[in-house]
Order: sequence, then C-alpha cells, then structure tokens
Amino acid sequence: MEKELLNQVAIVTGGNSGIGKAISCELADRGAKVVILARNEARNKEAEKEIAEKGGQAESYSVDVSNSEAVNAAINQVYSKYGQIDILVSNAGNATPLRYSTKMPIEEFESVLKTHLFGAFNCVKACGERMRKRKYGRIVLISSVGGYHGFAGQMNYAVAKHGLVGMAYSLAKEFDGSGVTVNVVQPGIIPTPMCDALIEVAKEGLPDARIGKPEDIAYATAFFCSPRAGFMNGTPLVIDGGLVIETSVDTEIKKLLSKTEK
Ligand SMILES: NC(=O)c1ccc[n+]([C@@H]2O[C@H](COP(=O)([O-])OP(=O)(O)OC[C@H]3O[C@@H](n4cnc5c(N)ncnc54)[C@H](OP(=O)(O)O)[C@@H]3O)[C@@H](O)[C@H]2O)c1
Repeated sequence: MEKELLNQVAIVTGGNSGIGKAISCELADRGAKVVILARNEARNKEAEKEIAEKGGQAESYSVDVSNSEAVNAAINQVYSKYGQIDILVSNAGNATPLRYSTKMPIEEFESVLKTHLFGAFNCVKACGERMRKRKYGRIVLISSVGGYHGFAGQMNYAVAKHGLVGMAYSLAKEFDGSGVTVNVVQPGIIPTPMCDALIEVAKEGLPDARIGKPEDIAYATAFFCSPRAGFMNGTPLVIDGGLVIETSVDTEIKKLLSKTEK
C-alpha cells in the first residue's frame, strides 16, 4: 500500500489508548512520524513500542493537554526537531460518572471542559499559525455522537463535544483557502477504557451492529488526514453503525418488519 503520509509529522493527543492509539497506529502505518501527547508515561512508551513493532515510527511527550505551557513546550520541541507538523488529531478526552446535571460537582464540569475544549484549543493554538505559514495542515477534532444529540447523565461531556463541533466549524472558516483543513469526527459507541463500564450497561438493549471498534474511527480519521482530503473542510462525520438515525419508532417498526417475509 502506498505510504501517503511518508515524511509527515502527526500529533495525536491521547494517542496511547483506545481510539487515539488506533489513530496513532493507522497514521504510522500510512508512513507518518507519530507524536503522542498524553499524561501516562508508561502507556506512552507501550504505544511507542507497539507502533515500532508494526514497523512505524512514534515518540511521545508526557503532557496534560489542558496545561497550555506544557503543550507549547512539547510542540515547540517537535518543531525544533522536525521543522513541521502536518497533522493534529485532538483526541484526548475524559468522562465523569453518570449523574443528573443538577447534582454534578463543578469540578466534574470543569475537568471535562478543560480536557476536551481547552486541550483542543491549546493544541490548535500551538500548531495552527505554523501550519498556515506552511500552507498545509490537517486538523481533526474528535467529538462524539454526544455532541450531536446530547447525553443524559453526562451533560458536561455533551457540552464539551458540542463545543468541539463549534470549534471545528469556526476554525474551518478561519483557515478557509489556506491549505489547512479542520474537520470533526463523531464516534458512536466504541469499547475503550473510558467507556467500558457504560458499554456493559448499554449493551443490554443494543444490537451488535451499534458497537464499533477503535479502528473504525481510525480509518475515517486517517481519511481526513490525507493530502487527498483537501476539499473537505468543516465537515462533521458521524461514525456510529447507524446509532443516531435510529429512533424508538424505528426499533418497533423493525420488530414488526421482522415478522414479515424477507
Ligand atoms: N469510546 C467511545 O465510545 C467514544 C465515543 C465517542 C467519542 N469518544 C472520544 O474519543 C476520544 C478517545 O477516548 P477513548 O474512548 O479512546 O478513551 P481512552 O481509551 O480512555 O483514551 C483517552 C485518552 O485521552 C488521554 N487523556 C485524558 N486526559 C488527558 C489530559 N488531560 N491530557 C492528555 N491526555 C489525556 C488518555 O491518556 P492519559 O491518561 O495517559 O493522559 C488516553 O490516551 C475521547 O475524546 C472520547 O471522548 C469516545
């Protein structure tokens, strides 16, 4: 397969686990030098090793994305080393336990907004102008179907994920015509350490078709990162096995339909 990202440098925040690790592996497989920004050094090293074992190139910085100084320091080091960053995938995220919004401690609200929104903002600020000067860049923000139709019990998460869609649309307009594109991916239910507990509960009433794999999100994200995706800007992409289009009416109709002849 052609290594379409050969000689490109890709930052993947939260690239040491779940969806982010699958994205790191996919971009490395397509030839990119992957730079992981995430906090846990041991997991960072494991991800680096996994990518190297598959023949890819990766390095990592132990960084909390909500800390602008730490993000700037890491990204400045990457620029000093390579002189360019071609791809930024802002994927780092966290979630808090299910609870009514009126019972949510302000710390939980703050922590989720800081990781998702401030994290993405810090990384875009550190890379964006340099990408504009080089007249090339691919920025992908990882939102969620929770940023599509809300999320009872995790309002903070839905606010952050809607915010990322607004951020992508606004940035796409600001970078319009510059060679830098900004797109947003909205995954459905993917088993990863962040949502394993939730998925165990959700699985009860869900068909297998509604549960994806980290790689499903990685392939689509890699498409947005391709030089060939230059005409896609400000595009939201839902990847959820049909989750958001299914209403409770559809579920009932399908039960009736299954009793008819195929
Ligand atoms: N799984 C799903 O069903 C699903 C659905 C829709 C959207 N998403 C989104 O997909 C993204 C990845 O989530 P995941 O499901 O793959 O979960 P995950 O396996 O728990 O990965 C979360 C990643 O974010 C990093 N991270 C968390 N807080 C950070 C911080 N302050 N600074 C730097 N890195 C941080 C973690 O690394 P460290 O702990 O080492 O920092 C880890 O690499 C998230 O944005 C999530 O909201 C997931």
